[in-house]
Amino acid sequence: MTTKRTCIVFCLHLHIGMLFHYCVNFGLSSNDLFTTMPETMNAVSDTCVQLPCAFQIPDGHNISFSSARNVYGIWLKGKTDSNILFNSSNTGNSLGKITGNLSEKNCTTVFFNVTTSYTNKYYFRIDTNGQYRATDIEKSVTITVIDSPEQPNMTVLGDIKEGTPLSLNCFAVAPCPGHPPKLKWTLPTKSTPVNKLQENPDRTKSVLSTVTFIPSYLHNEKNITCTAVYPVGMSNKTAEHTRTLHVLFSPKNTLASISPAVPVSVGNRVNLTCSCTANPPVTNYTWFRISGGETKPVASRRTYTLNVTVGDGGPYYCEARNDQGVGKSQEVELALEGKTGHHLIG
Ligand SMILES: *[C@@H]1O[C@H](CO)[C@@H](O)[C@H](O)[C@H]1NC(C)=O
Ligand SMILES: *[C@@H]1O[C@H](CO)[C@@H](O)[C@H](O)[C@H]1NC(C)=O
Ligand SMILES: *[C@@H]1O[C@H](CO)[C@@H](O)[C@H](O)[C@H]1NC(C)=O
Ligand SMILES: *[C@@H]1O[C@H](CO)[C@@H](O)[C@H](O)[C@H]1NC(C)=O
Ligand SMILES: *[C@@H]1O[C@H](CO)[C@@H](O)[C@H](O)[C@H]1NC(C)=O
Ligand SMILES: *[C@@H]1O[C@H](CO)[C@@H](O)[C@H](O)[C@H]1NC(C)=O
Ligand SMILES: *[C@@H]1O[C@H](CO)[C@@H](O)[C@H](O)[C@H]1NC(C)=O
Ligand SMILES: *[C@@H]1O[C@H](CO)[C@@H](O)[C@H](O)[C@H]1NC(C)=O
Ligand SMILES: *[C@@H]1O[C@H](CO)[C@@H](O)[C@H](O)[C@H]1NC(C)=O
Ligand SMILES: *[C@@H]1O[C@H](CO)[C@@H](O)[C@H](O)[C@H]1NC(C)=O
Ligand SMILES: *[C@@H]1O[C@H](CO)[C@@H](O)[C@H](O)[C@H]1NC(C)=O
Repeated sequence: MTTKRTCIVFCLHLHIGMLFHYCVNFGLSSNDLFTTMPETMNAVSDTCVQLPCAFQIPDGHNISFSSARNVYGIWLKGKTDSNILFNSSNTGNSLGKITGNLSEKNCTTVFFNVTTSYTNKYYFRIDTNGQYRATDIEKSVTITVIDSPEQPNMTVLGDIKEGTPLSLNCFAVAPCPGHPPKLKWTLPTKSTPVNKLQENPDRTKSVLSTVTFIPSYLHNEKNITCTAVYPVGMSNKTAEHTRTLHVLFSPKNTLASISPAVPVSVGNRVNLTCSCTANPPVTNYTWFRISGGETKPVASRRTYTLNVTVGDGGPYYCEARNDQGVGKSQEVELALEGKTGHHLIG
């Protein structure tokens, strides 16, 4: 900003033609080059980072890049003046390479083997062998080099319900698309992931892995993990994302039990208790009694407590209900002392 203002103030005292010449030649004006690149990029140390980059020369500057014999791209580190990281004219540069075709205004650049000391802001300058020099001082990319790769992102499409196919997505950034991470899943069931390298809206790349499986109530509270394995030299660096599955399911393993479990005599209290596993929790329990070939609801509580009378013996069962459905128990026999039940315990 300071440099730009200096330029303008200085140029005001000069002939208009000089202004153009001065500003263009020193590459200081923000109006002579417009670059498009991500604002930030995270890279993993000891691997490459491919920076998508494109530029435009504003109307009014009659420079034909397709015919320019020598077009150089220059990366400036930290500041817009003089901190030249590299000049694309230097072939065999070990720091990086402009892989985009500058004649097509593509300044896509690969920085090789980055280390944490690369973490900085970078500006792009264009130089057509001294004819035209411009730096976009308004636009920079902040490259952050970290030793451990970023955690991949996991997203779930839709509700997780038993029996309903579930799709899980895992994204991992691929700053060095030539050596993208491999994504692996740890799932409670077998499933084949579909992986692809894709382009993000800012033209950076990421790997997307999708798995689909049919969850069962047995998968509730189980962990699923997506692991991104980044090749780094001869070894790998990994980052993972774990989440716990919360599967919605109707009551399962519905069990009716009687306490005490031994035959009771008339006048004693017994508890009939209904238990099950369900997600979300059960909202309604209903106890049924089977008597004389008829089934009648007798209570709508989890524990049905009764003071036993002569007519209470016989088979009972319970139902548990949540918003996912109903679970029904097998029958249990309330046995009275000195009497034989009509049914055997089921
Ligand atoms: C640029 O200059 C060339 C010749 O100098 C001319 O033919 C062309 O029309 C000009 N283009 C623009 C966009 O002014
Ligand atoms: C720019 O160049 C890179 C590297 O060659 C390429 O992958 C990318 O597709 C190019 N971008 C455009 C917009 O052509
Ligand atoms: C770059 O683009 C120009 C113009 O489209 C083309 O003539 C040239 O062959 C390209 N260079 C490379 C190395 O692809
Ligand atoms: C990156 O560094 C490793 C060892 O540090 C080296 O073997 C490799 O050639 C380097 N790659 C590039 C592209 O410079
Ligand atoms: C980049 O290299 C070219 C060719 O050697 C040179 O003409 C140009 O001045 C250099 N640019 C910068 C900013 O160093
Ligand atoms: C990944 O998730 C984090 C936070 O959860 C978010 O900031 C980031 O933008 C996500 N990245 C992608 C590529 O979706
Ligand atoms: C599931 O992952 C959480 C952390 O995300 C961990 O605390 C928990 O122990 C894991 N559970 C199992 C069964 O591995
Ligand atoms: C790195 O990961 C790849 C694939 O995930 C695997 O084939 C390879 O054996 C791993 N290399 C090392 C050194 O662990
Ligand atoms: C029945 O349940 C009640 C309340 O849970 C408890 O206090 C009582 O001891 C139980 N009786 C029997 C016989 O299990
Ligand atoms: C479940 O119980 C609630 C109140 O506890 C009642 O309003 C609702 O009608 C019951 N639903 C069924 C299906 O029995
Ligand atoms: C069962 O009998 C006890 C006394 O023995 C009494 O307090 C209780 O209210 C009775 N319960 C029912 C459901 O009749």
